[in-house]
Order: sequence, then structure tokens, then C-alpha cells
Amino acid sequence: MSKTVLLIAHTPSANTLALATAAMDSVASHDTGDVGMRCLSPFDVSAKDVSDAAAVIIGTTENIGYMAGATKDMFDRCYNDWLDSTAAKPVAIYIRAGLDGTATKTALTSICGGLKWRLIAAPLIVRGSWQDTFCDQVSELCLSVVLGIDSGIY
Ligand SMILES: Cc1cc2nc3c(=O)[nH]c(=O)nc-3n(C[C@H](O)[C@H](O)[C@H](O)COP(=O)(O)O)c2cc1C
Repeated sequence: MSKTVLLIAHTPSANTLALATAAMDSVASHDTGDVGMRCLSPFDVSAKDVSDAAAVIIGTTENIGYMAGATKDMFDRCYNDWLDSTAAKPVAIYIRAGLDGTATKTALTSICGGLKWRLIAAPLIVRGSWQDTFCDQVSELCLSVVLGIDSGIY
């Protein structure tokens, strides 16, 4: 694989782990040319992981009206290193929200804007009681990013 899409997935529950796993399985089961996807917890992401990635997908929960602390911690640690050096990075976002997700969407959109990252799809919020179709929605988003990188769209 000559290019890597980085899925930064916070997976504190069986359902959120299922979202990330479904996305990884979906990409692995398709012909994605020379583009692969790797998955990291936001706790394990270093600035270089994003610098090296052809695109980034951020998957987070919403907790207490904001993105998960794990996701926020990543930005706290890496934001200054990413500023300027990762401008124009293609990024997609999905949010698992039991109730809402709006505040997390607003915050992530703002942070990505500050970094001058390119939002390449509307942020996806999988909201409410769990539905198995959430896995399909997240998989579709992630696969579209990988295929878009492979075809040179992004
Ligand atoms: C302490 C706590 C706070 C939460 N706060 C919010 C919230 O502010 N907005 C929201 O949409 N969901 C909230 N949730 C629900 C989580 O988003 C949801 O449980 C999480 O995404 C995991 O999804 P799952 O329950 O399907 O595994 C909260 C959950 C917990 C445990």
C-alpha cells in the first residue's frame, strides 16, 4: 500500500467498536488499489500519524455535550504540530451520539477549519438508539474516502 487513510476511532463501547470494525472490514473486502486504511485510538495518535496519512477519518462519541475526551486529548496534544504543516488534509467525520451530536459536529468542524483541513463529506451523525444500519453508514463513508484517495478525487 503506498497511501494510507487513517481512521481515528474512539471505541469505548461494543457499538462504537462495531462501527470501526465494520469500516475496516468493508475497506479490506473491496479493491482499493494502492490505498489502505489503518485504525488508531485517538489516545495513540501522534502528530506524525496524521502528517503521513493521505486522509483522516475521525470517529468519536459525543459525551456531555462535546466530543469524547479522548478525541479532545488528541487535538490538545497535536494541534500545534498540525497547524500549517497539515493544511488541506482531506478529513471526514462520524459521530456516535446517543441523543444529539450537534455540539460535537460544530466543534470538530471548527477545529478542522482552524487547521485548514478539507472536509470532504458532510459530517455523519449516527444518532439515537442503536441500529445495525449505522455500521453500513460509517462503512460507506470510510470506503468513499479510501476510493476517493485511490482515484485522485481528493
Ligand atoms: C457520560 C455520558 C454522557 C453522554 N452524553 C451525551 C451527550 O451529551 N450527547 C449525546 O448525544 N449522547 C451522549 N451520550 C451517549 C453516547 O454518545 C453514547 O453512549 C456513545 O456514543 C456510545 O454509543 P453506544 O451507547 O451505542 O455504545 C453520553 C453517554 C455517556 C456515558
